[in-house]
Amino acid sequence: MANTDQDILGRADVNDLEAIMAISNTDVDEAIHAVRDNADAIFTWDYEKGARPALNKLYEKAKTAQWNGETDLDWSIEVDPSRVIVGLQGSNSAGPFEALAQMDDSPFKNFGDKEWDELGVESLNWRLSQFMHGEQGALICTAKIVETVPWIDAKYYASTQVMDEARHVEVFAKYIDTKLDGFYPINAHLKLLLDDIIEDSRWDMTYLGMQIMVEGLALAAFGFMYQIVDEPLLKQLLRYVMSDEARHVAFGVLSLKEYYAELTDAELRERQEFAFEAAVRMRDRFLQQEVWDRMGIDKRKVMHMLLQVPPEEMIFQQMLFSKIVPNCKKLGLLDASGGWLRKRFEEIGVIQFEDWVDTGEEYLAFDAVSQDREAAEAAAS
Ligand SMILES: [Fe+2]
Ligand SMILES: [Fe+2]
Repeated sequence: MANTDQDILGRADVNDLEAIMAISNTDVDEAIHAVRDNADAIFTWDYEKGARPALNKLYEKAKTAQWNGETDLDWSIEVDPSRVIVGLQGSNSAGPFEALAQMDDSPFKNFGDKEWDELGVESLNWRLSQFMHGEQGALICTAKIVETVPWIDAKYYASTQVMDEARHVEVFAKYIDTKLDGFYPINAHLKLLLDDIIEDSRWDMTYLGMQIMVEGLALAAFGFMYQIVDEPLLKQLLRYVMSDEARHVAFGVLSLKEYYAELTDAELRERQEFAFEAAVRMRDRFLQQEVWDRMGIDKRKVMHMLLQVPPEEMIFQQMLFSKIVPNCKKLGLLDASGGWLRKRFEEIGVIQFEDWVDTGEEYLAFDAVSQDREAAEAAAS
């Protein structure tokens, strides 16, 4: 029997603010967080390399595209966080929250340049902190995939991704620690999503949750930030991380395409529901409740206002789905089970991306590391 939103999300109304706010991070003072991963570690005795040529190609590419976060980025660059946000917000110091200042009873009503700058810096600290926590989620998920996926080509490839993700956690942590002034604990909704992904016993759910949903969002978010930021260290960091992420999302698309072709409609419906749950958790995350708390702003009021803004006016939030939706389409998830996921993506205002380029092959165009090496070799000869 199909699940209701209450079953999937723990609330009957997607926009139920009290239920969204009731999800909180209770272990901000702990140094570790334990999650049961509920899965068997799978050996395979079929060692035929290249039985899945697309995964083998990805694995070979990953071996030659490794980079070193300590030496391939110029950490001597000095960073002024308040300058970084000027690049991020353009000429408009209020940035994406300007529309809210016009609303009646807005907590931003009396904001001047100083307050908008402070919000810009806090949002930057928050965003990069969440990127870092998400990268650790990816590190743990891909280590799990090495254990649980039954195909040797996928185990090989996933092992390169474990190294990629370690590097990503490392470089974001170093940037936050040495260049910014402020760290945020993991957002409650992101934490809930990562826990759900890791707890699921089915190997393909790790892929769907992490490679398709979380990494699809990350690839779009990094791309968006890369285009608008002009701080050179962060720009290069994002460029290199994206070059890896494009492979990661491709890994998800290529693996699940094969597997989902054989699932029943009822099994696909479970995947659709999981994808929808992940999409809602990620939308909830971008209400950035921790920032409002830290700034002493009434978070109930701001989050309520944010939920009132029509989706088409939330350009940044919408763009975050520009990789996820075409990839779900390619996997057959939009239209299985009577188009259930298509309807849900219509409701949250992101279906317009369905025919954008999917990420099955896009990684070749993203390969910044090889491009730089070729340019350096050409310059040397
Ligand atoms: Fe990553
Ligand atoms: Fe990744």
